[in-house]
Amino acid sequence: MGNLVCIGAQWGDEGKGRIVDRLSEQADVVVRFHGGNNAGHTVVVDGVTTVLHLVPSGVLHKSKLCVIGPGCVVDPEVLLQELEMLAARGLVDLTSPERMIVSDQAHVILPFHKRVDKAREVARGAGKIGTTGRGIGPAYEDKAARRGLRMHDLIEPDRVADAVRSGVMYANSVLEALDGEVYKGEEIESIIARLRQQGQKLKPLVDDAGARIHAAAQAGKRVLFEGAQGALLDLDHGTYPFVTSSNCLAAHASVGAGVGPNLLGRVLAVLKAYSTRVGEGPFPTEMTDARGEDLRQRGREFGATTGRPRRTGWLDLPALEYAVRINGVTDLAITKLDVLAGYGELKVCTAYELDGRRLPHFPHDVRKLQAVTPVYESFEGFDKVPDRIASLDDLPAAARRYLNFVVQRLGVRLSIVGVGPGRGQELVMHDVLAG
Ligand code: GDP
Ligand code: IMO
Ligand code: MG
Repeated sequence: MGNLVCIGAQWGDEGKGRIVDRLSEQADVVVRFHGGNNAGHTVVVDGVTTVLHLVPSGVLHKSKLCVIGPGCVVDPEVLLQELEMLAARGLVDLTSPERMIVSDQAHVILPFHKRVDKAREVARGAGKIGTTGRGIGPAYEDKAARRGLRMHDLIEPDRVADAVRSGVMYANSVLEALDGEVYKGEEIESIIARLRQQGQKLKPLVDDAGARIHAAAQAGKRVLFEGAQGALLDLDHGTYPFVTSSNCLAAHASVGAGVGPNLLGRVLAVLKAYSTRVGEGPFPTEMTDARGEDLRQRGREFGATTGRPRRTGWLDLPALEYAVRINGVTDLAITKLDVLAGYGELKVCTAYELDGRRLPHFPHDVRKLQAVTPVYESFEGFDKVPDRIASLDDLPAAARRYLNFVVQRLGVRLSIVGVGPGRGQELVMHDVLAG
């Protein structure tokens, strides 16, 4: 079939952007199917770094169709900024849906969603989630409550005012209860005026995403579905309530792109050679001491969206086995192997213990997850990983042993290894889009 879903297997920031950029060479259509600009996907080409928040990471290849699917939430201001940056580089054209489209069904993140997101976090105090503050949760809440504004509404100036006024009324009641700053007359009018302008600028790109993807697939084109966040941040299957407000799993690519599940193809899980997490919530293998800080510095683990320091820890196999199972993973892309060079000893968590007993599965209850004791296996470290590799044989023997152990445990084939952030600093062992 030639299609592929690429998802994060941990808590996000696994390196999905650079993998999608590389695999886009083999694809014709690249689709974001959930989330919004809480995502930050980094692509480095010839030393130039591009961080994409909404536009699919295939956009640096000029001939691909990039789609923001119906399952996404779109902040029009952020999208326009990103599109203008890409247009200035000759990569997109804001007047034509030839190369870049936004689903008419995608929901719009409105200014009050961001304010409510932040006010909720303040009100949660020590129990905060550590959201990105981009209004993601409140926008999805309004969608589920059936009062959201969709892209096909945003481009109709007549519809914007009513939707904003009723949305503000609801947001104000929440803000009032949370001691947040409520919206008043003039501010509401200026929001309406700005949204109308943004809607008109985006209008040429608003289209039926599912129909376009389906037609491309029918014509034999290859579709690459680009996940955001990661399995453990999935609204249903992640470490609830310390999750995002969308479904991040591979199966959701169908609903979030508006195509049938038979179009999805293989499932590639991207994982780092160690673990990171931004925001709050359980993280069994976290290193909160100097070793954690050292790994953060070596891996440059600072958020691509918020700049926050990422929490760091050893690789967690019980969590990864869970991610592989619930995503139906067929292929692995292991990134940042180079970051582990220079450690005398490496550790991998192979099991969780709770009250002296081994847990058979990753627990769904965060209180249990918070209380587990990780069981570690130690591995000999390696000094250096080459900047580029042509085969696994170019890696030090100890690095190969580390990879082999992980791959054997996860029980699916290793298809990509990342040894640096730049395009080309990865070994692709299988044509994952061909099967
Ligand atoms: P995403 O959200 O999954 O796309 O990942 P991010 O872009 O947020 O974070 C991944 C970070 O790791 C970025 O700074 C990438 O440039 C970098 N990166 C990705 N793969 C590798 C790799 O194999 N080695 C190194 N050293 N850095 C990498
Ligand atoms: P990419 O696609 C890492 C985290 C936030 C917070 C939780 C909820 O770059 O991998 P939200 O703003 O979504 O309501 O925040 O989810 N989070 C991410 N962490 N990478 C991401 O995206 C993330 N998107 C959201 O830090 O803990
Ligand atoms: Mg990221």
